[in-house]
Amino acid sequence: MTKTIEHAVIVGGSSGIGLATARKLLGPGMKVTITGRDEEKLKNAWKNLGGAADKAAFDAGKPDEVSRFFERLGPFDHLVLAASGGKGLGPFPTLDLADIGSGVDEKVKPQLSCLQAALPTLSRSGSVTFISAVSAQLAVPGIAGIAAINGMLLTVVPILAMELKPLRINVVAPGVIDTPWWDFLAEEQKQAIFTDYAGKTPVGRIGRAEDVADAIAFLVCNGFMTGQVLTCDGGLRFAA
Ligand SMILES: NC(=O)c1ccc[n+]([C@@H]2O[C@H](COP(=O)([O-])OP(=O)(O)OC[C@H]3O[C@@H](n4cnc5c(N)ncnc54)[C@H](OP(=O)(O)O)[C@@H]3O)[C@@H](O)[C@H]2O)c1
Repeated sequence: MTKTIEHAVIVGGSSGIGLATARKLLGPGMKVTITGRDEEKLKNAWKNLGGAADKAAFDAGKPDEVSRFFERLGPFDHLVLAASGGKGLGPFPTLDLADIGSGVDEKVKPQLSCLQAALPTLSRSGSVTFISAVSAQLAVPGIAGIAAINGMLLTVVPILAMELKPLRINVVAPGVIDTPWWDFLAEEQKQAIFTDYAGKTPVGRIGRAEDVADAIAFLVCNGFMTGQVLTCDGGLRFAA
């Protein structure tokens, strides 16, 4: 009997956690499509995967581009939502509250918009995996903004899992992970933060993109997981 090849789409698959997830899902023979805004970055990611994935450039923050992508794509099985924003970090007294709005526009709305646009063609026996952040589960000064943004995704997942059943909907909450997400910082500053968090994290190191990709692949492939928040943070949630 021929095995059906499942197709996973990774929105934000050209870098970091999304790219590592693409590599992980290609392993067991899935068809994978990676997306991102920057065509050059996407091409490099595609090369990095040995040309084994499909690729498509569009901005998940632009609803017309999102609709066009999913209409052209046709039926598929799994949706991984790794698009990110970068705003909302900093002490609350001086936090620019507009950054919370930007974070919603750059991360929450793009992830939700992709799910909405994907619904007509996403297999009911498939899955959706959002990527939030452990910041929404920590009581640490200086992260109220990003916690507010990421908390939205944690909140909607159990509701969507019930509303859209039998489609499975889950979310991964990564801790501090060494990816290009941190490249807005100077190298020295970035390394200082990584060292600080490695010391605070029970497993004694910060995360790798592959650590989170393993957690995502588990949720994608396990047909009995839905409505769940899977925290992948080396135990930081209990220690920070
Ligand atoms: N790294 C961490 O420590 C950490 C911790 C907690 C949570 N997270 C979350 O994990 C997810 C993945 O982040 P990462 O660390 O892997 O960051 P990353 O390396 O910067 O990857 C982000 C990916 O999303 C794409 N992207 C961003 N905005 C997009 C948009 N509007 N439309 C389409 N694609 C878009 C980027 O490509 P283009 O720029 O070319 O569009 C890239 O492929 C994010 O949601 C992030 O908030 C990361």
